[in-house]
Amino acid sequence: MKGVILAGGLGTRLRPLTLATNKHLLPIYDQPMVFYPIETLVKAGITDILIITGGPHAGDFIRVLKNGKELGVKHLEFAYQENEGGIAQALALAEDFADGGPITTILGDNTTDTDISSAVKGFTDGAVIFLKEVPDPERYGVPVFDPKDKSKIIAVEEKPKKPKSKYASTGLYIFDNKCFDYIRNCKPSARGELEITEVQNQYIIKGKLRWQHLDGFWTDAGKFETLFAANAYWAKKKGVGE
Ligand code: G1P
Repeated sequence: MKGVILAGGLGTRLRPLTLATNKHLLPIYDQPMVFYPIETLVKAGITDILIITGGPHAGDFIRVLKNGKELGVKHLEFAYQENEGGIAQALALAEDFADGGPITTILGDNTTDTDISSAVKGFTDGAVIFLKEVPDPERYGVPVFDPKDKSKIIAVEEKPKKPKSKYASTGLYIFDNKCFDYIRNCKPSARGELEITEVQNQYIIKGKLRWQHLDGFWTDAGKFETLFAANAYWAKKKGVGE
């Protein structure tokens, strides 16, 4: 299994912090943000990793990560997203890297201490998404469950005004290679982006989307409140305040 970290965008929600570097290089306690998704992949045995970045500070990644060896990465590649066309558009750049196989994808601003090893090892085909109960689902992709069968997801809605469940579809996904065909079918959303939720919806239509609860801590760190929450969690976990 190969891994892809999506670390593009302009980080506008975190300005002025993101005026001088890429959002995914901002600190979460004692490490740059992007170290956390890399560690999640490496812990799951994924050491062949592509980082897709973009924006004016993309070059900063090389100085921070070098060849990734210090984090246990065996092979590190980079790709550059030329404009901010959304997460699915960025993921399309991973098609050659995936080389016909499946990919485990993590958004570069997601930090978690969950262990996805068994999901990665047990993966066969289709897609697996990871759900987390959140107080503010309207900020995320939100699963809609079948009223007749509560274990079945019938759609994932991107940032719905009236969420139909209390879960977020977190930014961790395992996709088979069909995801690249599904991205080609995506149309820009109201915010002008190719949405990763549209890729999930195409797996649902084919009856190929599975889900599991994400155990442990998870947050994105894309706005001030969640960046602070991520810092507070990891500082405490690493012994601050004991
Ligand atoms: C993105 C996805 C959304 C997902 C979230 C997780 O949102 O579009 O479906 O729930 O990441 O962090 P964005 O970061 O664009 O707000």
